[in-house]
Amino acid sequence: MREKTSYKPGLDGVIASETQLSYLDVEAEEIVLRGYDLIELAKSRQYLDLVQLLLQGELPDQQERSTLEQQLKKEYDLPDNFFALFHKLPKQTHPMDALRTGISALAGYEQDLNGRSEEQIKQIALSLLAKIPNIVANSYHILYDEKVIAPRQELSYSENFLHMITGKKPTATEAAYFDQSLMVYSEHEMPNSTFTARVIASTNSDIYGALTGAVASLKGNLHGGANEAVMHMLLEGKTTDGFRHLLYEKLKKKEKVMGFGHRVYMKKMDPRALLMKEALRELAAVKNRNDLMEMCEAGEQLMKEEKGLYPNLDYYAAPVYYLLGIPIDLYTPIFFAARTLGLCAHVSEQYANNKLFRPRVLYTGPRGLHP
Ligand SMILES: CC(C)(COP(=O)(O)OP(=O)(O)OC[C@H]1O[C@@H](n2cnc3c(N)ncnc32)[C@H](O)[C@@H]1OP(=O)(O)O)[C@@H](O)C(=O)NCCC(=O)NCCS
Repeated sequence: MREKTSYKPGLDGVIASETQLSYLDVEAEEIVLRGYDLIELAKSRQYLDLVQLLLQGELPDQQERSTLEQQLKKEYDLPDNFFALFHKLPKQTHPMDALRTGISALAGYEQDLNGRSEEQIKQIALSLLAKIPNIVANSYHILYDEKVIAPRQELSYSENFLHMITGKKPTATEAAYFDQSLMVYSEHEMPNSTFTARVIASTNSDIYGALTGAVASLKGNLHGGANEAVMHMLLEGKTTDGFRHLLYEKLKKKEKVMGFGHRVYMKKMDPRALLMKEALRELAAVKNRNDLMEMCEAGEQLMKEEKGLYPNLDYYAAPVYYLLGIPIDLYTPIFFAARTLGLCAHVSEQYANNKLFRPRVLYTGPRGLHP
């Protein structure tokens, strides 16, 4: 006899999986990543270190990091004529949809789509981590009739990603904050997109399909799409007073304010948001945009007073990306590019210890009808 469990709308608080990858310890205010604190890692390490940590289980030394970077660099290029795909898309295609199409198409080039060993999945993960920044940046350029920007081997992984987006070699400060943003976006336990990827992988479907589904999940503004929505709000508000007015209006109309609230961090600030807030403070000072910092802090204060809600990562990542000169339509694709790491690690873990996801329902429809 199977145990009956109670219904939790949105699976709120339900444990869906075992994992060795990450855990949100809200009480301790720690995001645990294979035993380390993500915030400590983000302050002292680089995105590529997290790649090795999540895919291989250990932090690399300098030599190992450089070997990993070389491996990724060899995989930057997309298959011949791959960009033709994006030229065929309607110009109004959202970059997240272009990204979804691109990842889906990569499956057709995979030599062993049925490979499920840890080593095979790791190789595909590295290939995706190398290629997805190229797809993100250049599908956008193609949709906007701009020139494709080829990856540059002499730049670091994150410098190259930012360069492919903006066309400029970033300063050391810009590259460091961009890399830090990739780290805080890299993995976060069981959000909707990770759950989606694991659900798909649990049917023994391939990793490209799992990630394609995850892009669709992450696009929604209750999830990754929130960072773009935040920036549109800040721009619409224009000034601190204008922004406060806009937020009051939204609350009056009972609209959700993007960038606030979180299923897990209900009454506390997302530790990742705190880190990006500090990044914004420093970037705003360097770029003479303290007004943007002031606006964000005013919004944070207002939401705390009016609703008892705290900013999530997207609230502070959005203005950081703005000051890095990144087009708004790319904020969510960049979030996905960073999260590719966590998603691949989760898919690999799912394959290694699989149980098909197949929940039940609480039926509320009629019974006993006859045709
Ligand atoms: C993230 C989110 C979906 C979590 O939602 P959840 O756990 O399902 O909680 P709910 O949406 O049911 O919200 C609970 C209550 O708080 C309110 N609330 C939550 N987030 C809110 C927000 N951003 N703005 C205004 N009210 C909010 C809800 O209206 C609801 O109030 P009610 O009980 O009076 O109806 C939600 O906070 C949200 O929509 N935030 C904005 C989108 C966002 O920033 N997403 C990125 C997440 S990292």
